[in-house]
Amino acid sequence: MRPAHPASRPPDSWERGSPYEQYVGRWSRQVAPAFLAWLDLPAGLRWVDVGCGTGALAEAIASGSAPRSVTGFEPSEGFLEQARERLGARAQLHRGSAEALPLPDASADATVSGLVLNFLPDVAAGLREMVRITAAGGTVAAYVWDYAQRMELMQHFWEAAARLDPAAAALDEGVRFPLCRPQALEAAFRQAHLQEVGVTGLEIPTVFESFAAYWKPFLGGQGPAPAYAMSLPPERRQALRDALEARLPVQADGSIALVARAWAVRGRVPAR
Ligand SMILES: C[S@@+](CC[C@H](N)C(=O)[O-])C[C@H]1O[C@@H](n2cnc3c(N)ncnc32)[C@H](O)[C@@H]1O
Repeated sequence: MRPAHPASRPPDSWERGSPYEQYVGRWSRQVAPAFLAWLDLPAGLRWVDVGCGTGALAEAIASGSAPRSVTGFEPSEGFLEQARERLGARAQLHRGSAEALPLPDASADATVSGLVLNFLPDVAAGLREMVRITAAGGTVAAYVWDYAQRMELMQHFWEAAARLDPAAAALDEGVRFPLCRPQALEAAFRQAHLQEVGVTGLEIPTVFESFAAYWKPFLGGQGPAPAYAMSLPPERRQALRDALEARLPVQADGSIALVARAWAVRGRVPAR
């Protein structure tokens, strides 16, 4: 089929919290406790969640890490609204961007970020801010999807999309984002002058009860793949849907069992 649109990339959309939850927020909620277990930090810390979105990581910190405080920053008002609804008084959630965090130097003990680093226009500036607000000896840490190798729900999507429209291959997050690889994450943390840098893989099952349950979240338009799906005219979206239904490993009971891996990275803030 001939591509019916130019190769331009629809903007990554982060506006409406509810469809985001259905698409990826719910899976981030499963990674967050594993990430915190890997960090294994003590109780009583001042935590900051950068790009907190609908609150997946902030909520896991509030409920599992016995924090002294949880502060979240997020540019999208729609996402913040969802996060505030979920977290109430358990976190202070503010509008803000990674590149200019409105906090004093060394005012946090652990500054973390879930699924955000690849979306920052200037990752180095974001990491610099995360380090600046974190006290010496404190932790800066993040996780991102392993888009290139083991984020199956998205890999199927982009492989099917690229077969129908070769221009879509360049939109695949596994191609777009260098920071979805452990070596690149480690290098970015070292360049931010973090010490004792370590990376690990965190894997979760992403099981859909039916093909409809897999496909529907792409119609919410939040995030790169759903934004692409919704940029297509209806007949091309239908062709993509059909191609996905044909290629996904549907089991006898109609369910589809996929796997998602996140790479988690951590570092210690040096003495200043
Ligand atoms: C994939 S979502 C992750 C949200 C949440 N942390 C989670 O784990 O579900 C990416 C998030 O990055 C946020 N974001 C985009 N640009 C940002 C920036 N410059 N600074 C901070 N957050 C940003 C988006 O608004 C969105 O909430």
